[in-house]
Amino acid sequence: MKKVLITAGPTREPIDPVRFLSNRSSGKMGYALAEAAVVAGCEVTLVSGPVCLDPPAGVKLVSVMTASEMYGAVEARIEPMDLVVCCAAVADYTPIRMEEHKLKKKGTDLNLTLMPTKDILGSCREVFGYRKTLVGFAAETQELERYAREKLARKGCDWIAANRVDEEGSGFEVNHNEITLFSADGQVVELPRDTKPQLAENMMRMLIGE
Ligand code: CTP
Repeated sequence: MKKVLITAGPTREPIDPVRFLSNRSSGKMGYALAEAAVVAGCEVTLVSGPVCLDPPAGVKLVSVMTASEMYGAVEARIEPMDLVVCCAAVADYTPIRMEEHKLKKKGTDLNLTLMPTKDILGSCREVFGYRKTLVGFAAETQELERYAREKLARKGCDWIAANRVDEEGSGFEVNHNEITLFSADGQVVELPRDTKPQLAENMMRMLIGE
């Protein structure tokens, strides 16, 4: 039975006890991929940020909040995996510290100092030593192919699933999407516009070769 790990959803980076920085992500694509992998007979671990979705039946759900927690959850579980798909919209920056108490309004500008989070997908090869199939996502608003290919190479992926997020009815927080997959060895696979569950099924079938 193939072992699959999927990251999904946004992360939340706390500013103070009542505020956070986050990304636009419903988790729908990652959850649909997890469901498709279960249906295809895989053992699935879903590392998920906070979303309003029920986990698909049969997945091992690992719930996390911050980018740092997601990094730790992936690092601890990646070794036996046959396929890793990083679908999460991980925050790229996090406040340097969380304020202990709620910040009070002062009527003046507020400066937050942010530091970069660790790149989970980009750590899989060099830091975690993962050698099997690695798939990333590239959500772009322009120059889809150029940015996707650059991410594929920079993060050491086998495949990158590229989608435009500025088109009406595709991308973030909606039910449909369209994806172009680019492989490290030059293949290009178009998955035309469809519902996220159907796209996920097609994408999983291609990735696990069944
Ligand atoms: N990703 C990750 N950890 C991060 C940031 C991104 O694992 N800290 C993964 C995402 O899950 C996705 C891929 O990297 O699979 C691309 O994410 P994206 O935000 O598009 O790329 P960035 O590296 O943040 O590049 P940029 O912001 O310049 O577009």
